[in-house]
Amino acid sequence: MRYNVAMDTRITRCLRWLVDYARTFEDRAPEELRVRVRRKIVHPMRVLAHVRHILKEERPTPELALAAEIAAILHDAGRFAQLVDRRTADDGSEYDHGREGARILDGSDVLDVLDGHWRSVVIEAVRLHNRAALPEGMEPDARVVTEMVRDADKLDAVRNSVGGLLRKELTGRAIKYGITVHPTEVSADTVRRTRERKLIPYASMRWSNDFVLFLCAWVHDLHFSYAYNRLIDTGHFEQLLALLPNQGVFPELKAQLRGDLHRLAGRKRTVA
Ligand SMILES: [Fe+2]
Repeated sequence: MRYNVAMDTRITRCLRWLVDYARTFEDRAPEELRVRVRRKIVHPMRVLAHVRHILKEERPTPELALAAEIAAILHDAGRFAQLVDRRTADDGSEYDHGREGARILDGSDVLDVLDGHWRSVVIEAVRLHNRAALPEGMEPDARVVTEMVRDADKLDAVRNSVGGLLRKELTGRAIKYGITVHPTEVSADTVRRTRERKLIPYASMRWSNDFVLFLCAWVHDLHFSYAYNRLIDTGHFEQLLALLPNQGVFPELKAQLRGDLHRLAGRKRTVA
C-alpha cells in the first residue's frame, strides 16, 4: 500500500518535535522577537505544502517522499537559536543555520523514525538547503530531497518578498543585504548576469531593482515542474517583473525572464 502522508505517525512526530523545540525558544524570546520565532514555525508548513505538491507530480519512492517531507518540516531547525540567541537571521562563517540545523538534528532523537540512509539524506538536505549552489557529487537521494526543499523554500521566499515589495517595505533578505529603494537604478553586474542567465550574488545587490532581479534569477535554480508552474499560476513572477521599470534595459530583461520561465515550465523533470 502506498504510504499515506496525512496519516503517517512519523510526520506527526516530526511536527510535534518542531513545535516543542520552537516553543523553548519562543518562551524565552523577548516580546519583539516572538512574532519572528512564530513565523519560523509557520514557514516550514508552507514549505511542506509545496513539497507535497512536488511529490504528487514526481511520484518518487515512498521512502524518498517521507524523507522530503521530514526535511521540509525540519529544514530551518537552526533558525531558532540564530534568531533568539544571536538576534540575527544572517548566516556567516560562525553560524550557518543550515549547518547548525543539521548538527541539532544529528544530536536529537527526532530522526530515529528513519533508518541510517534516510536519516543522513535528511541531515544533508537540511545542511545544504541554504547554500548558494549545491556541491558536485552529492549522494543521489540526498540531491533530489535537497532540490525539493530548495524549490519549495524559494517559492515561499518569493511569496514573502513580493508581499513586502508590493507594500513598499523591505523584508528579510532585502534588509539583510542593505538594499536601497530606487525606481530605476540597477547595478551593471546584475544586468550582465541576468542576460547571461546566471544567479545574482549577494555582493552585487545594492538597489531594489537588483533585489528583484536576484529573485527573478531563481528561475535558473529551480528543478521541478511544479515550482515553475506555481510561479506562473500565483502571478508572483509577473508581480516581480511589474516592480521593475519599463525603460532602459528592463523591457529586454523582462522579456527574457518571462520567456525562460514559460519555457522551463513546459519541461517535465522525472525523479529517478
Ligand atoms: Fe532556511
